[in-house]
Amino acid sequence: MKLDDVSTDLEEVLLTEPQIHDRIAELAREIERDYADEPPLLVGVLKGAVMVMSDLARELSIPVEMDWMAVSSYGSGTQSSGVVRILKDLDTDLNGRRVLIVEDIIDSGLTLSWLHANLQSRGAKSVEILALLRKPDAAKVAVDVRYVGFEIPNKFVVGYGLDYAERYRNLRGVGVLAPHVYA
Ligand code: IMP
Ligand code: MG
Repeated sequence: MKLDDVSTDLEEVLLTEPQIHDRIAELAREIERDYADEPPLLVGVLKGAVMVMSDLARELSIPVEMDWMAVSSYGSGTQSSGVVRILKDLDTDLNGRRVLIVEDIIDSGLTLSWLHANLQSRGAKSVEILALLRKPDAAKVAVDVRYVGFEIPNKFVVGYGLDYAERYRNLRGVGVLAPHVYA
């Protein structure tokens, strides 16, 4: 879907498809340099990271492996508690591997903080994080995100993998959801 296809559901367009594409290309150049000696294992966090994983992996000129995890954080409503349950685990042995976690967004940072520690504890040589979007609250948690696509305001956004009630994931850009949609 194009942003125009759901324009009445959006309060504001934050990122267009070309903007996302250009930024992912920049991040890919950094990753190619940083992992020139040893290709990373990309770990995508389902379902939100599907689009960024797919575009990033194809943009990279170095070989990578891809694996996936699905996690759910315990907590009431929209508030993340930091207690995380693994719904789908990796198939890959991380021992001695250089891991790059690929995420759609870092909000409270609690999910990624837990995930980073969990993957590190499996004997990975290094665990770095890429997040396409970062909200201001992420600064409150000590989670080191090596690659950030865009800093965005503290608003609920959808598109490019991000959903509201499983909708809008297939939107090509990112927009702020209009209040009338969830009111
Ligand atoms: P946190 O960083 O532990 O608070 O959780 C981040 C997760 O919450 C992300 O992976 C998303 O699944 C979800 N999330 C946070 N902010 C948004 C948003 O604005 N739109 C859609 N999902 C979001
Ligand atoms: Mg997510």
